[in-house]
Amino acid sequence: MRGFTRLDRLIWKFAGLGKPRIRAKIKAGEIRVNGALATSGAMEIGNFDLVKMGSEIVQNRTARYLMLNKPPGVVSATIDAEHSTVIDLIKEPWAEELHLAGRLDRFTTGLLILTNDSRVSESITEPVRRVGKRYRVGTDGPITGEMIALFKKGMWFAKEEVTTAPAIVELLDPQTCLLTIYEGKHHQVKRMFAHFDVKVMTLHREAVGELELGDLVEGEWRFFEPSGKSP
Ligand code: URA
Repeated sequence: MRGFTRLDRLIWKFAGLGKPRIRAKIKAGEIRVNGALATSGAMEIGNFDLVKMGSEIVQNRTARYLMLNKPPGVVSATIDAEHSTVIDLIKEPWAEELHLAGRLDRFTTGLLILTNDSRVSESITEPVRRVGKRYRVGTDGPITGEMIALFKKGMWFAKEEVTTAPAIVELLDPQTCLLTIYEGKHHQVKRMFAHFDVKVMTLHREAVGELELGDLVEGEWRFFEPSGKSP
């Protein structure tokens, strides 16, 4: 999903006009982008720029950024044949325009980010951005010093042939910790503990970057304003 498109392409899609007619309309001052006169058909138009041709609206989309507290059993997907999805929790006419910035397993709870702005979702999910995700992890056995040392050092994931980025670990009690990881590999937290034959019993995401779940009630969502490069 790209964040930009050319002005002439947008107008061609909207009104079926070819480049010469679009050029003439631009020259005649009939096309405006965010209130200013368009200067060229090659102008790059963002997904959320307001584009008008005369009094007609060519494009007017609202950027939406939502944080949701995912309950257990609901899937992190936009459609699913069997289970209810996080989109079903957002009872708004525009809910289907949203996509997910990262996923949680079906029985993992906590912070999930949804948006219709691919630039923001990419800034969260692209591995090079190294956005921290903080989980509260409850296990079926003690979390040992050896485990913490390896999590902090980075672990070898044979399937992907990568070493995970050094994690931050804060032990809360012998079987509970706060774990911050900087990638989003499939079942990453469970696989990190499984390496030591320890099973993750509860997994709850509390934060993504600077965005904290706070007191958001399970199953509820609210808007947030993305700050700069990442949440
Ligand atoms: N790691 C997991 O194993 N599951 C999640 O849902 C998220 C991170």
